[in-house]
Amino acid sequence: MLKKIILLLIVLGMGAGAGAQNRIILNADGGRDTISRHIYGHFAEHLGRCIYGGFYVGEGNQQIPNQAGVRSDILAALKNLKVANLRWPGGCFADTYHWKDGIGPKDKRPSITNVWWGGVTEDNSFGTHDFLNLCEAIGAEPYLAGNVGSGSVQELSDWVAYTNQETGSPMSALRKTNGREKPWGVNFWGVGNEVWGCGGNMKPEYYANIYRQYATFMSNWGSGGQLFRVASGANSSDYNWTEVLLRDIPHNMLEGVALHHYSVIDWNKKGSATAFSEEQYCKTLSEALRMEELVTRHSTIMDKYDPAKKIALVVDEWGGWYDVEPGTNPGFLFQQNTMRDAMIAGVTLNIFHRHCDRVRVANLAQTVNVLQAVVLTEGEKMLLTPTYHVLEMYNVHQDALSLPLDIRTNDYVFGKQKLPAVSASASRDKAGRVHISLVNIDPNRPQELTVVLRGLQAAGVTGRILQAAKVQDYNSFEQPDRIKPADFKAITLRAELLTLSLPPASVVVLELR
Ligand code: AHR
Repeated sequence: MLKKIILLLIVLGMGAGAGAQNRIILNADGGRDTISRHIYGHFAEHLGRCIYGGFYVGEGNQQIPNQAGVRSDILAALKNLKVANLRWPGGCFADTYHWKDGIGPKDKRPSITNVWWGGVTEDNSFGTHDFLNLCEAIGAEPYLAGNVGSGSVQELSDWVAYTNQETGSPMSALRKTNGREKPWGVNFWGVGNEVWGCGGNMKPEYYANIYRQYATFMSNWGSGGQLFRVASGANSSDYNWTEVLLRDIPHNMLEGVALHHYSVIDWNKKGSATAFSEEQYCKTLSEALRMEELVTRHSTIMDKYDPAKKIALVVDEWGGWYDVEPGTNPGFLFQQNTMRDAMIAGVTLNIFHRHCDRVRVANLAQTVNVLQAVVLTEGEKMLLTPTYHVLEMYNVHQDALSLPLDIRTNDYVFGKQKLPAVSASASRDKAGRVHISLVNIDPNRPQELTVVLRGLQAAGVTGRILQAAKVQDYNSFEQPDRIKPADFKAITLRAELLTLSLPPASVVVLELR
């Protein structure tokens, strides 16, 4: 009886003293929507050292172990990460890319100038076969971004046939000539990228018409399976963009609408990736947390036109964006990755989990050596960033049932800025295990937390934690394992109550059995 009264007091918020206001109620017997594993997608653009000098070191490379020119250490790391899908070849690059230049004998391929990223010349030695075989090697579904800005309807239609048609067409014959008998069966297709900007500076009404034209000729032509076509979507809070696309594109031609949002303090003054102040930290986290409002408002517009939620919101570019590392090519977007980035990853994925009814695909930008990368390389060396570790800890949520949470949190206060200190999400996997992922973004104070487990008789709890002494800390090639997950044991489970203390700037994932 006494236990019940104490529980009730906590639930009503009266049991908490000063500085102990965090309380989560987990409704373990609720839940309706599944967290698509495709929220755990990544993005690999021909940009800086992502493809060339990152993923791809060339078939003849004797120094760096590779499979068909792709680094073996990266393949192993991404397989372990459970990358659900991988978007390629851009980004802005996609609307300059002509896929037929990247097939056939490598020594005969024409080169291309990468006009968006550093003006470098690429020899097209990494092309469609290389990318799709890479996806097969790591168990990820490919997500090809088609060229709308400077390509043609025929070119994109041919790419679909080349990758997906079993036999009986000029494109399937060409694929076989190039050594691939079976089609890869590519499901995800982007119809242009950022067409409001680098993809053609279009207006939404104009693009909606263009989209209809391209989508008409993107079909599996009887080779089975429906394509998942994604319309180039809004830049952050451009709600009119989503409104026009949902209004003007017939819904039987549209499986997903994209959204891009980067956590940037100021596009003209992004600041260092590692040497940042607390004010800059707070502003970056505020931009990351804005994803909640963005997906809510874009979803509300989509609900108006598509109440059955058939069309997915595809956040196919997200992450932190800072100044490039000193001394590196400004067009290569190479930045270090600190605990600040781990915070961005933790809170963003929690938002996606809680909005999984509509957000069903997402892609962190980018995978290797570019922006908020999960892997960095330097010559033969490779390291896993704090962001990698968050995604690896969180991948227990893939294809699990999202569980409703009621979250009450303290504020993290910096100057006039107030942000919710604790972010959380929860799910139940197919084996019945419940996972709760928690982030304390406050870099100065631990957060004492009580979790009320409604509808769950847990026999035991285990946990993992990612933390560092400072939010500016990162993994370097000298200290690649400075930040890595550790067991988290300081949790008390008593009947329906979990109590724990989240250290400053930490990410924790709990498993209840
Ligand atoms: O990810 C880097 C760039 O950011 C992409 O090429 C573009 O789509 C976006 O503006």
